[in-house]
Amino acid sequence: MSDNKVQIFDTTLRDGEQVPGCKLNTEQKLVIAEQLDNLGVDIIEAGFPVSSPGDFKSVEEISKLVKNATVCGLTRSVENDIKVAAEALKYAKTPRIHTGIGTSESHIKFKFKSNQDDIIERAVKAVSYAKSFVEDVEFYAEDAGRTDNAYLARVCEAVIKAGATVLNIPDTTGYCLPSEYGAKIKYLKENVKGIDKAILSCHCHNDLGLATANSIEGVINGARQIECTINGIGERAGNTALEEVVMILRQHPHLNLDTNINSEMLYGLSQLVSDNMGIYTQPNKAIVGANAFAHSSGIHQDGVIKNRETYEIIDPKDVGVTESAIVLTARSGRAALAYRAKNVGYELTKLQLDEIYASFLEFADKKKEIDDNDIHKIIESSRLYKEITSA
Ligand code: KIV
Ligand code: ZN
Repeated sequence: MSDNKVQIFDTTLRDGEQVPGCKLNTEQKLVIAEQLDNLGVDIIEAGFPVSSPGDFKSVEEISKLVKNATVCGLTRSVENDIKVAAEALKYAKTPRIHTGIGTSESHIKFKFKSNQDDIIERAVKAVSYAKSFVEDVEFYAEDAGRTDNAYLARVCEAVIKAGATVLNIPDTTGYCLPSEYGAKIKYLKENVKGIDKAILSCHCHNDLGLATANSIEGVINGARQIECTINGIGERAGNTALEEVVMILRQHPHLNLDTNINSEMLYGLSQLVSDNMGIYTQPNKAIVGANAFAHSSGIHQDGVIKNRETYEIIDPKDVGVTESAIVLTARSGRAALAYRAKNVGYELTKLQLDEIYASFLEFADKKKEIDDNDIHKIIESSRLYKEITSA
């Protein structure tokens, strides 16, 4: 792997599917997994095989289906979880077991009623056991975001020795500031013996709306894998949004970091996941929201009509959106009305536009959005209709 490639680990089908009400059946998971593979994700986390027979079956079927991506199954640091995951992954061309344990003070004290040394022992045992089934073993230090860096480094060093190929540093509770998360990754890069044998991975939750920013800080500071989901779905406030990190890296080539993602598929994948999970995407969602390329204020519309780049940093086609939308509302200006009228067949002179614009504003004050039919109605009911259509 080249040093400027960031691996995309998609966990839509595992962390994403944990969202209440978003459960998918195996057929739906297969459709999404196939599209994720076509999208170019490097790893598909297909599920948590020990959690239910349905999840086991989904991981098994996805393992048979996927052609390019590594297929990964989640486990706790529990022998049976690992054995079951290995069984579910047995048909995968490149299988990965993702095992781990909580490492923060609160997880050690309240969840495990244990101590730091015991946690390291359990982590090492889990990785060694997973290694007896597959070569590629990813270790997660759950709640790493709130784990003391020196202790986290000890955990990482021990699991690398046991054979972990990837070290997942989750900000499970979405607590870290980007500077803190970046510093954590840097600290591990600089203080863990044998770190060059493993890839550091970011898995950031969005409780404070910082998941994407934290993941980007992570890769700037040396991580080379981002765990993310389509539309940013996931536990509570969600995970890092795949479409966001991919486009941030692409729009900032000076970072010299990129992914294998075919970005033109992003909008389609977003719709597919949203339709199957029955969870709608907020209109102002970055990259894939309905308004991400829609312009409604007169000043912006005038700029975009003159040159798209005045108000857009991404060409919508690059993410699979056919074109920017000029939305007509009472805040729109003459340029937008002329543009939309032209699209439905009316070429207006300046004087005609002035008069039609006055009727348009009256209409728009009563209605949230003016559609093509409304434009016809406005022009047809104008005293200038004949003049406009005979030109
Ligand atoms: O958020 C988290 O810590 C997780 C782990 C299980 C990887 O999802
Ligand atoms: Zn998570």
